[in-house]
Amino acid sequence: MVRHFLKDDDVTPLEQSQILTLALELKAAPYSRQPFAGPQTVALIFDKTSTRTRVSFAVGVADLGGVPLIIDSATSQMGAKESIADTARVLERQVAAIVWRTYAHSGLEEMAAFSKVPVVNSLSDDYHPCQILADLLTIQERFGKLAGLKLTYVGDSNNNMANSYLLGCVTAGMEVALAGPAKYAPSQEILDRANLLGASTGGSASFTTSAMDAVSAADVIATDTWISMGQEAEKEQRIAEFAGYTVDAALLSLAKPTAIVLHCLPAYRGYEISAEVIDGPQSVVWDEAENRLHAQKALLVWLAEQSKA
Ligand code: CP
Ligand code: NVA
Repeated sequence: MVRHFLKDDDVTPLEQSQILTLALELKAAPYSRQPFAGPQTVALIFDKTSTRTRVSFAVGVADLGGVPLIIDSATSQMGAKESIADTARVLERQVAAIVWRTYAHSGLEEMAAFSKVPVVNSLSDDYHPCQILADLLTIQERFGKLAGLKLTYVGDSNNNMANSYLLGCVTAGMEVALAGPAKYAPSQEILDRANLLGASTGGSASFTTSAMDAVSAADVIATDTWISMGQEAEKEQRIAEFAGYTVDAALLSLAKPTAIVLHCLPAYRGYEISAEVIDGPQSVVWDEAENRLHAQKALLVWLAEQSKA
């Protein structure tokens, strides 16, 4: 049966750890798996802009023996002219997988419902699960484990990254503490889902408006832009509302001295993170960006195998 990856909890804890183990193998031996030999084509569709996702998926598909077909949806028939269901029906007969960056998460669900090849969410308004796989890989490389570690995310706790940290890191057995303005708290539904998952993984999820409380004893500090793609009109308002939630040296000093700093990028120095921190010794953001490649290759190999079984 075909498997899709639309959100972080679409894989079990065991499956997530299998994907991360495979990612480490592929990082050491980049061309050791060739699921798309033929070559088969993988569609990479973008409704929003991208640097890392576009490059890492294109390079990854090529490394796996395939051909990446980058589709800019603005110059395709998708959207106003042709439905998602009809697009899926056309693509599934010609490509080995569909990777899509879009706005409404429901679009991905519809694409998956009409596709017999794996559909991967490469960012929606609600989730960014491929990024979390890369983040988990980066944390695992640094600490040699995931379960039991504390990750604190400071900033917009109601965006795609916050949702994915909650679900993805709790799946890995981590403690996830979110901090941000009350207006940007995570939905109760996501918090409950994460804590339900945590009951079996040992992980947990919480939200507070106090960044200082949340970073206490943290092993990992993460943040993201205060203005996600599609929210540009709210820029000035959001900058004012998020004042006091910058990950800077003073805040970082309250975490464990061994703490590492993550940012999915692109970063806005002086807003959600100071230049001193992102360019400082505790930052691992360039490893994190590289790990998109290895984590996504593992995901594509795993999905191809599962979907054949
Ligand atoms: N982190 C991330 O998804 O980057 P891009 O928007 O450049 O793809
Ligand atoms: N929350 C950000 C992530 C960018 C990779 C956005 O959606 O724009």
